[in-house]
Amino acid sequence: MQAKIVLLPGDGIGPEVVAQGERILQAVAKKYGHSFQFTTCPIGGCAIDEFGDPLPEKTLAACRESDAILLGAVGGPKWDDPTAKTRPEVGLLKIRKELGLFANLRPIFVSPHLVSSSPLKAEVVAGTNILFFRELTGGLYFGKSGKETNADGGETAFNTMIYSTHEIERIVRLAGQAARGRNKRVTSVDKANVLEVSRLWRRVFERVMKEEFPDIQFENVLVDAMAMYLVARPKSFDVVVTENMFGDILTDEGSQLPGSLGMLPSASIGSSGPGLYEPIHGSAPDIAGRGIANPLATILATAMLLRHSLKLDAEATAIEQAVDRVLAKGHRTSDLAMGGPSIGTTEMGSLVLAELA
Ligand code: IPM
Ligand code: MG
Repeated sequence: MQAKIVLLPGDGIGPEVVAQGERILQAVAKKYGHSFQFTTCPIGGCAIDEFGDPLPEKTLAACRESDAILLGAVGGPKWDDPTAKTRPEVGLLKIRKELGLFANLRPIFVSPHLVSSSPLKAEVVAGTNILFFRELTGGLYFGKSGKETNADGGETAFNTMIYSTHEIERIVRLAGQAARGRNKRVTSVDKANVLEVSRLWRRVFERVMKEEFPDIQFENVLVDAMAMYLVARPKSFDVVVTENMFGDILTDEGSQLPGSLGMLPSASIGSSGPGLYEPIHGSAPDIAGRGIANPLATILATAMLLRHSLKLDAEATAIEQAVDRVLAKGHRTSDLAMGGPSIGTTEMGSLVLAELA
């Protein structure tokens, strides 16, 4: 197979972890006889520095023409000035919107080898395997927003959480389909006791599930309760579907179940066109440039890329198994080492490569 892959390393530890992802993809291409053509483009803070724009037109054009995109992370203290004209995060939100990437898949899987790295008790987390579907191009992050100065000199600011039937239906369908290949249960998370938009979300969710997925069990959980259940009984969830901000927050919470944000990949997909794959962690400016970031989330993101965008299932599984073997042998980056001996970013990449070969 021939494929065009765009690399968007971004800021902070982004370039370090994407470099490892690229090595893995190159090794897969070689081993399985594929030809991947890589193009690297700027996004986020580094793109603001160079072009004054967190998502330069050229970057977007290269992404549109590609088969899949691998992103590192965007943002950092350098671009945090609240009065700045634009922000790195704007680039990420814009690429999601422009490419129609409405579904963000975030698997939260606790490897048996990492149970002891979790801040929770082993008996609570062991066996956790949740697939989150976070709606990614609607809701509070994209609704009308504004700010104004009041007569009393104070200020007022607002954001709007807004969803339409069609936006809810399409993500619920993806969640339902995914549940068919898993344990056949879908949990929808909302705040229907308070928010009108959640009441619409719940009505649409229940209708789609009843009409189109009679074989799948479903339930509704309020977001505040879900924050609690996620740490109290994470094993009881299979597929979870929720709106943009609830998904953003709950998946960061969920990322602690396997002990580190550094383990979790994500896939952002639309109804057609390239998908965007990234670790769910951010740019981690505190450790950037030190060669100690955990590259496994990005490496696992390359597996998602191969599976979802290129339909290379065997290759994806080979990467996941290689990661599993490296962890089984006890190798840990510092985020997982709990004060014990740890290895660096490149070394971890090399170990996965060795297992792949
Ligand atoms: C994420 C990140 C982004 C988001 C930020 C960087 C805009 O937190 O992918 O979860 O909120 O979607
Ligand atoms: Mg987030």
